[in-house]
Amino acid sequence: AATAPKITVIGTGYLGATHAVCMAALGYQVLGVDVDADKISRLTSGEVPFFEPGLPELLIKALDSGRLRFTTSFQEVADFGDIHFVCVGTPQRAGSFAADVSYVDAAVTELAGHLRRRALVVGKSTVPVGTAARLAELIRTVAPAGGSVELAWNPEFLREGFAIDDTMRPDRLVFGVSSPWAEQRLREVFAPVIGQGSPVMVTDPQTAELVKVAANSFLATKISYINAMAEVCEAIGADVHDLALALGLDERIGSRFLRPGLGFGGGCLPKDIRAFMHRAEELGVGQAVAFLREVDGINQRRRARTVDLVRELAGGDLRGVRVAALGAAFKPDSDDIRDAPALDVASSLHQLGARVRVFDPVALDNARRAYPALEYGQSTFDVATGADVVVLLTEWSQFREIDPAALRTVVARRRIVDGRHALDPAHWRAAGWEYRALGRP
Ligand code: UDX
Repeated sequence: AATAPKITVIGTGYLGATHAVCMAALGYQVLGVDVDADKISRLTSGEVPFFEPGLPELLIKALDSGRLRFTTSFQEVADFGDIHFVCVGTPQRAGSFAADVSYVDAAVTELAGHLRRRALVVGKSTVPVGTAARLAELIRTVAPAGGSVELAWNPEFLREGFAIDDTMRPDRLVFGVSSPWAEQRLREVFAPVIGQGSPVMVTDPQTAELVKVAANSFLATKISYINAMAEVCEAIGADVHDLALALGLDERIGSRFLRPGLGFGGGCLPKDIRAFMHRAEELGVGQAVAFLREVDGINQRRRARTVDLVRELAGGDLRGVRVAALGAAFKPDSDDIRDAPALDVASSLHQLGARVRVFDPVALDNARRAYPALEYGQSTFDVATGADVVVLLTEWSQFREIDPAALRTVVARRRIVDGRHALDPAHWRAAGWEYRALGRP
């Protein structure tokens, strides 16, 4: 289609790289930009700088089709695009709960300075509510094209490990717009996705911003709710695993995000709930989300409790105890170790004097770089050899499938802590293991 809008994607990290590749796969001409020249050259040569199933293949296809290119020039991006998607990160600010929006501000300022014709700027990054209004004003003053450039907000809900599917077939599309023109443009761009059945929700930009943080806060709350029940279970010898199954059968509650265990980590949930608390305080409604502090607290306590379980199994003292840590990524099918509960636990065990050896199927290099003091091994059996305690920290399918009868032949002592409720206790106990899990008798 000769009239199809030209797309640009600003920021080529997890979200941006996925979005750029998917937009090209949908048939659009796409130009991606990043200030990180190394990232741009890797993407240009067909290399995805992080682990995401299916993305490398789709990137190469898009590059070969000629529809996808990358650059470091904002001038080029401004000249090329009709619709500019802002996908830069908003990490937690050091020493504060607030989100650091400086990358968003810098990207939009840089882009706007070059915008000489009508365009739509679409924010996808997760931001404190009110950011869109501030950026709209900034664009009006900075862009040579002034008021003919509009801003919309289109939050992204993709999960790592399912990034392509979540982008192509999202549960919903949220368009936060200030004009019918902006809505029309977004409906046009996402027509192939809408055609696949994803519902569209049109709202104002601030509500759209809020949908994202409210959704992630709800998910975090659901996880911490069941993990709080695990604490109660531990006090009375009840079984949180069965409790979660029973609760989940109530359709009003539902079983998803009700898996008890070590709790949530990653680049989104922890920092998003903290940024939300901070923003709500600024808006004078801190009390409305004060419960998120408890959600965060419960989540942190699961990590401490996992360390305690390992110590209990080791006989009360971790010094000199050999621990095999299975998993480093914050969840399976990811190499992401940001705020990973697994590495938090592993390094606490190390600090308490244990000799910890870590194995993860894909996150090993990232873990090694971030936690050089820990020891690493090449396989489950490698790290388990001679171990006094095995602790499962990320529920990779290859760990779920471990044969307890085979593993018992290499360990020094048959003790396992299942931090993710990923193993069948009866199966492991039958093979002679002392099995412990959070919230289970
Ligand atoms: C999350 C949101 O799901 C996604 O919509 C948003 O766009 C970004 O943040 P992601 O961080 O990729 O996605 O991971 P997710 O699959 O949501 O898992 C988050 C964490 O919660 C993981 O550490 C996981 O182990 C944990 N979790 C999840 C539980 O502990 N129990 C559960 O029942 C579900």
